[in-house]
Amino acid sequence: MDFTQEIAKRRTFGIISHPDAGKTTLTEKLLLFGGAIQEAGAVKNNKIKKGATSDFMEIERQRGISVATSVLAFNYQEKKINILDTPGHKDFAEDTFRTLTAVDSVIVVIDVAKGVEEQTEKLVEVCRMRNIPMIVFINKLDREGKDAFDLLDEVEQKLGLKVTPLSFPIGMGYDFKGIYNIWEKNINLFSGDSKKNIEETIAFDDINNPELDTIIGDSAASELRDNLELVYEVYPEFNRDSYLDGTLQPVFFGSALNNFGVRELLDCFIDIAPAPRAKNAEERLVEPEENKFSGFVFKIHANMDPKHRDRLAFIKIVSGTFERNKPYLHVRNNKKLKFSSPNAFFAEKKEIVDISYAGDIVGLHDTGNFKIGDTLTEGENLHFKGIPSFSPEHFRYINNADPMKAKQLMKGVDQLMDEGVAQLFTLDLNGRKIIGTVGALQYEVIQYRLEHEYGAKCSYENFPVHKACWVEPEDEKSEEFTEFKRVKQKFLARDKHGQLVFLADSAFSIQMAQQKYPSVKLHFTSEFN
Ligand code: G4P
Repeated sequence: MDFTQEIAKRRTFGIISHPDAGKTTLTEKLLLFGGAIQEAGAVKNNKIKKGATSDFMEIERQRGISVATSVLAFNYQEKKINILDTPGHKDFAEDTFRTLTAVDSVIVVIDVAKGVEEQTEKLVEVCRMRNIPMIVFINKLDREGKDAFDLLDEVEQKLGLKVTPLSFPIGMGYDFKGIYNIWEKNINLFSGDSKKNIEETIAFDDINNPELDTIIGDSAASELRDNLELVYEVYPEFNRDSYLDGTLQPVFFGSALNNFGVRELLDCFIDIAPAPRAKNAEERLVEPEENKFSGFVFKIHANMDPKHRDRLAFIKIVSGTFERNKPYLHVRNNKKLKFSSPNAFFAEKKEIVDISYAGDIVGLHDTGNFKIGDTLTEGENLHFKGIPSFSPEHFRYINNADPMKAKQLMKGVDQLMDEGVAQLFTLDLNGRKIIGTVGALQYEVIQYRLEHEYGAKCSYENFPVHKACWVEPEDEKSEEFTEFKRVKQKFLARDKHGQLVFLADSAFSIQMAQQKYPSVKLHFTSEFN
């Protein structure tokens, strides 16, 4: 088969949600449909229940053994589907943001009772910024929850989306009778038999067919007719182009746990979700069907076993094919590298493969060559955009607690930063190191890992920072910029790429700086051009 046909079969996406909305359950049901797993419970839930470090360590240990859960692949209706795992816990949000640079679309899971939650808002915002096509799945319809129209309103208002329902619930909770599938024009009746995989669907082209009353009862039938009338009146007709450019989001209802409404979601996904999309590099737009391979590192997974310090770098293939033992250019290092055992992912397993295609993820064993955002090509000098760092929420000085182990500490810190565990800033004034994280949990994780993997000890000291702002002067030589640097001297630092960062101690000081030095632009992410 021509390699472009293989590429056209790929559907690479992520499922995002607030913890507990049902991401793991949905993933598992999707894998069941793909025949990739045989029974429920096969997909490990990577969620952190108590938010304790011990929990995290345990999860990381398990993940280290079965890193393949980072990518779950299966075949369905001639399509190759790659699901990229995105941690739901807020302390690992950065990891999720980066994974979102490697997906071509997403499914957003929302709990019918809880509605739009905090983490969903943050993640959807990132997807919106990048115009990633999104399908919304409202889950747990077997439970009492919010009114369907209220939920659709909430999704539009809180998430800033424009939705159109492609299915609609008939009742809810105790009275949940099933779902009308607007996309396929049929009714799917809910039996409440939770282990059932095969569902009964009844075609209903015409919702006014009196048979509907016989099947679901008079009052439910008339309520459904009223609801659908309102749906057709209020919401735009589904349009694939609008979905693909991120301006319209179809919504499905169901119950992942009961495997209800999941097939409908998957079948629609197969019909509408995009094949691998073109990606912007600093130099040019790279199309997936190009002959030559290119790809970028979006995730690095450490081996938690200190005896094997190798890591697995996850590469999203942007164009062409990736072949085993073929030399590729590591653009940042300007070095050719060959990979004798690239891993591809299937269901919960990983295996060595000879060839992978644009849209796929390959896992490469790495002994320290890769950083997040690195590009691999067949020789061209490309740098993929869209893997910015976001301002951390917490900042602390890191101190060496064992003078004999300074080297180990620096090596450990460097490697953990390359993995994207946290961000390191070096103060211009005195060279002191500051670690910035999204969640406080990471400090314990870093300390633990430095000790167990690198034999180094560290301590922390508070450093009151509100936000890190990446600095972009209009003119490097202007008096205004010189003055800015002089006045803010104590708060200026470099990130890992040497970019200048202003560590502002309050929202007020950011505002003041913007007023006083209008030609010095302050950005909350590291990528702004
Ligand atoms: P997450 O990955 O988004 O964090 O959520 P996960 O799938 O783990 O689901 C969170 C909880 O919600 C689980 O219950 C799960 O069984 C339940 N759940 C998922 N889908 C549905 C649904 O359609 N209906 C109902 N009623 N519940 C659903 P748990 O008690 O926290 O975990 P477990 O002990 O059952 O695994």
